[in-house]
Amino acid sequence: MDIYEALYTTRAMRRLKPDPIPYEVQARILDAAIHAPTIGEEWRFILVDDPEIRSQLAPLYREGFERLVGGSIGDALGDLLKADNQMGRMVRSGVHLAHHFAEVPLLLIGFGRTPEGSGIYPALWSAMLAARAEGVGSTLTGMLQSFFAAEVCDILGVPKDAGWVMHGVVTMGYPSGRWGVGARKPVHEVAARNSWQGNLGFTVPEPLWPEK
Ligand SMILES: Cc1cc2nc3c(=O)[nH]c(=O)nc-3n(C[C@H](O)[C@H](O)[C@H](O)COP(=O)(O)O)c2cc1C
Repeated sequence: MDIYEALYTTRAMRRLKPDPIPYEVQARILDAAIHAPTIGEEWRFILVDDPEIRSQLAPLYREGFERLVGGSIGDALGDLLKADNQMGRMVRSGVHLAHHFAEVPLLLIGFGRTPEGSGIYPALWSAMLAARAEGVGSTLTGMLQSFFAAEVCDILGVPKDAGWVMHGVVTMGYPSGRWGVGARKPVHEVAARNSWQGNLGFTVPEPLWPEK
């Protein structure tokens, strides 16, 4: 796959088929991931596909989601759940994942040594790109470590007091929807040159992939 296609179309895919991801595909994804930029050997990845473990993690994910939105999903999100726009679609997709977390075929959980996760995110993103190349959809999530890191570490048997910090959880599975280009503010609205307000020198009104 063309690298630009992967970069533009690796977006959050939260509606997934139940089909398992074969080990050889998982191996390619993880091996690509560990070739990302690194601060040393101090990282560890846990793949979770055991239904029993997923069913222990799912209520935590859902509770984290409810804490984030400030109440039960239906009450807190109200009209947003029905909105016919980008935000509405993202919220519905997020709610779908919160309701179906136990059915996600594969979780990739990254652990590092730095409190903020800077050492592990390049690898997680590489895993997501490799997954895209394999036709596997993924979503980077922070919910579990934001609200329930200690509980998740207990469930997964992470050694205590050994300095491991749980960072991102990437959900993975074959998508039931279509790949597309994620909506983003254009480059010239989020970037500058030489100083905070410096003129960038170019504008990009439309995504440059696919080439027109
Ligand atoms: C650090 C980080 C944590 C995130 N945590 C979550 C999460 O817990 N749950 C979720 O549904 N999306 C989460 N997201 C957002 C999605 O991964 C995704 O990037 C966003 O919805 C944009 O989707 P798109 O690429 O399809 O436009 C997180 C993103 C980042 C960068």
